[in-house]
Amino acid sequence: MSGKIDARATARTRARYNRIAPIYDLIETIVEGTFRSWREKLWSNANGYILEVGVGTGKNFSYHPRGMKIVGIDLADQMLARARERAQKLGMTIDLRQGDAQSLDFPDNTFDTAAATFVFCSVPDPIRGLRELNRVVKPGGKILLLDHVRLDQPIMGNMLDLLDPIISRLWGAHINRRTIENVRQAGLDIEKIEHLGPMGMVKLIVAKPRK
Ligand SMILES: C[S@@+](CC[C@H](N)C(=O)[O-])C[C@H]1O[C@@H](n2cnc3c(N)ncnc32)[C@H](O)[C@@H]1O
Repeated sequence: MSGKIDARATARTRARYNRIAPIYDLIETIVEGTFRSWREKLWSNANGYILEVGVGTGKNFSYHPRGMKIVGIDLADQMLARARERAQKLGMTIDLRQGDAQSLDFPDNTFDTAAATFVFCSVPDPIRGLRELNRVVKPGGKILLLDHVRLDQPIMGNMLDLLDPIISRLWGAHINRRTIENVRQAGLDIEKIEHLGPMGMVKLIVAKPRK
């Protein structure tokens, strides 16, 4: 893969999520009610050997399909610590590891499904990360993404651009990512996009790796 990983940006992202890890679930309480059905929808498409990228505090665990072998990675050890606690409470066996979506520690064509919810809004180099998903998912496998994106409207779009430096510093996530374009640029084949939430700001993307 060309170019180097931006180590400073990656360290900054890790530090932001480590900082907010103790209050992450609390901050998200208000929106989680809305997210529930979207998470369910995404995970109903997952099967086989599954990679969850950016597990965070493990909010997806109760939606994981039963009986599948699942590996979860996250950049931030403090988020991961909470994910481990959650998996234990739920009595689930999930292989949880610290890792970077931009440089996945798995051989080519390992997984049947890779999934990420609200992650590529914060991965420093999202195209690089999406290319990594393309690499580790088997031909014919699935890449499932749920994320908020930049609105393609002049006023709201510009407002998100203006607010992004403040929000990303406080919260870790960028609010103006062009994730659909990023998925295309990474070379994935998009099968389906569902537009969810206010103004269709959240996208559920079903893609296939292009080999
Ligand atoms: C907004 S949280 C979402 C967590 C969880 N997926 C959810 O739906 O609640 C974003 C997560 O992505 C992780 N993350 C950001 N950049 C990453 C990267 N390059 N590799 C792996 N995880 C990353 C963060 O540490 C954080 O836990």
